[in-house]
Amino acid sequence: MADQTRILDESPAKRRGRLGLPGARTREEAIESMIRVDHAGEYGAVRIYEGQLAVLGKRPGSRRAAELIRHMAAQEQEHLDTFDRLVLERRVRPTLMSPVWNVAGYALGAVTALMGEKAAMACTAAVEEVIDDHYAGQERALQDDTDSEFRGVISKFRADEAAHRHTALDAGAEQAPGYPLLSAAIRAGCRLAIRISERL
Ligand SMILES: [Fe+2]
Ligand SMILES: [Fe+2]
Repeated sequence: MADQTRILDESPAKRRGRLGLPGARTREEAIESMIRVDHAGEYGAVRIYEGQLAVLGKRPGSRRAAELIRHMAAQEQEHLDTFDRLVLERRVRPTLMSPVWNVAGYALGAVTALMGEKAAMACTAAVEEVIDDHYAGQERALQDDTDSEFRGVISKFRADEAAHRHTALDAGAEQAPGYPLLSAAIRAGCRLAIRISERL
């Protein structure tokens, strides 16, 4: 009973921190876990686009797609730079999965690009749909929190990711061969990567 009262006395954000994320016992741990997974995700995003550009970057017929990808990749690099800084400043342990996301991200980018420009765009649309959801969840968890710096970062990046998704859809993502299956597989993979990076 005494313990229950103490939990109820905490701010909503602190209660969410205590109860919200897997393995997180306090608000601080919850925020650390968020920074760890976001850092991992932005790293993965940079690697996906590097893989795509390795295939499409110099292909004469793919100049328009490569240009779109370069623009999105530059924003992903900014996102990654921000999380590199947050990880250092706040002494967050980076995910142990970096070597895996390094290879898996690049391979996903390269393989989808080898399937064609539309498949590369389908990859972006699928990834960004999951990331938009993911950042939306973090925005909700932080809505009453005092950490306005982190909340601001998330809102800004979520808007960028939503724009990437629209760019990819406008560039014909849905016309990729086998789109529903491709998209579902990539979304499932991203969700799994998120769950793993929150913990490890
Ligand atoms: Fe990003
Ligand atoms: Fe993105």
